[in-house]
Amino acid sequence: MPAIQTDARQVASTVPAATRRRGNSVFRELVAHLREHRTRLRMEWAQRIIEARLLTAMNRKEVAAEVASIYDNYVKALQTGTFEVLQAYAQDLSERIIPRGVQTHEVVGIVLLLRDVLARSLFAKYQADPARLDRVLNAYEPAANRIATTVAVSFVEERERIIRHQRETEEVLRRLNEALEEEAKRIALALHDEAGQMLAAVHLAVAEIAHDLPAPAADRLDKVQHLLKEVESQLRRLSHELRAPMLDTHGLMPALEFLAKGVHQRTGLRISVGGSTGGRVPPLVETAIYRSVQEALNNVARHAQATKVKVDIRRNGNTVRCVVTDDGVGFDVDAVTGRNGRRGLGLLGIRERVHVLGGQAEILSAPGRGTKLTMALPVGIS
Ligand SMILES: Nc1ncnc2c1ncn2[C@@H]1O[C@H](COP(=O)(O)OP(=O)(O)OP(=O)(O)O)[C@@H](O)[C@H]1O
Ligand SMILES: [Mg+2]
Repeated sequence: MPAIQTDARQVASTVPAATRRRGNSVFRELVAHLREHRTRLRMEWAQRIIEARLLTAMNRKEVAAEVASIYDNYVKALQTGTFEVLQAYAQDLSERIIPRGVQTHEVVGIVLLLRDVLARSLFAKYQADPARLDRVLNAYEPAANRIATTVAVSFVEERERIIRHQRETEEVLRRLNEALEEEAKRIALALHDEAGQMLAAVHLAVAEIAHDLPAPAADRLDKVQHLLKEVESQLRRLSHELRAPMLDTHGLMPALEFLAKGVHQRTGLRISVGGSTGGRVPPLVETAIYRSVQEALNNVARHAQATKVKVDIRRNGNTVRCVVTDDGVGFDVDAVTGRNGRRGLGLLGIRERVHVLGGQAEILSAPGRGTKLTMALPVGIS
């Protein structure tokens, strides 16, 4: 990349001083022309961008706003000739549009289109005077090349930096997530094996006592045994929910359905799980949603006095949205999550899980109005 940059700089520095001085007045005239006709030229450029199917990740309004801003900065860069202004702008532009999924060829494409639109306009203005046209184009073209190169190089560098940063963050997250999941699995196993075995021993001891007791008392112990069996099966189920093996084997939706069924059996809450992720999404995202819904359902069971809960998953382009709504008593969100709020770990954990993946979590609730938790997670920049 630096090699291209050096070339671009050389274009300007190889122009002899006398030519540059003469070029100054040509430049002033050129810039005045581009300023005077900016509305028409910007529109023409925007139209060409849309026709060439560039910046497709943005809607027309966003394209128009970018076009206006890039055009003005382009003319400013032509006028001042300062590389730093241009580079700072290219950097800022890259930071804004890279997360939108804009690709390198699109950036190069739009800058080349602008160069073309402006060159045509200069041609139309000076075509009756070939000598002058020659001078204008000789002044314009090296500068336009330099701008195109600077913007493209900045974009590529910035994109590489963002992708590198994203990979590093993902790696840290992956390790953190693995550690957390390992811990959950360890607890799930302990619950399943150790608590399960202890319960089985209690079960046997009770059966022995029942054997030695007269009929009415033995009947009552029968009920205890029945309850013990129930506890055993709930424990097994809880351990499965905690370990969530279905998440790996079947994906998010079946795992959520299994979870909802278990919570329903334990609490009586009517839980509907609907929507779709539109195919598998990255495991980190699936785990974050599963664990967050698990906590949200826990909260509903513990705090909401609700009868119904709805879990809805939607895929919209690069975003997966998950909404958990209950019809319970609701709560004052600011009072709970504010600085002096009573601090539980659940909502905080949901926020953190979602934020580290570049997503947003929002909780809407008011006393007597139920609660709605919305999570939106990106499923990766391509
Ligand atoms: N669905 C809900 N309906 C009503 N109140 C809720 C709901 N979800 C959360 N809350 C309120 O928000 C508080 C904070 O929830 P959070 O999950 O952060 O903590 P917690 O459930 O109290 O404790 P922890 O999750 O750490 O075991 C709860 O104590 C409760 O008052
Ligand atoms: Mg909680």
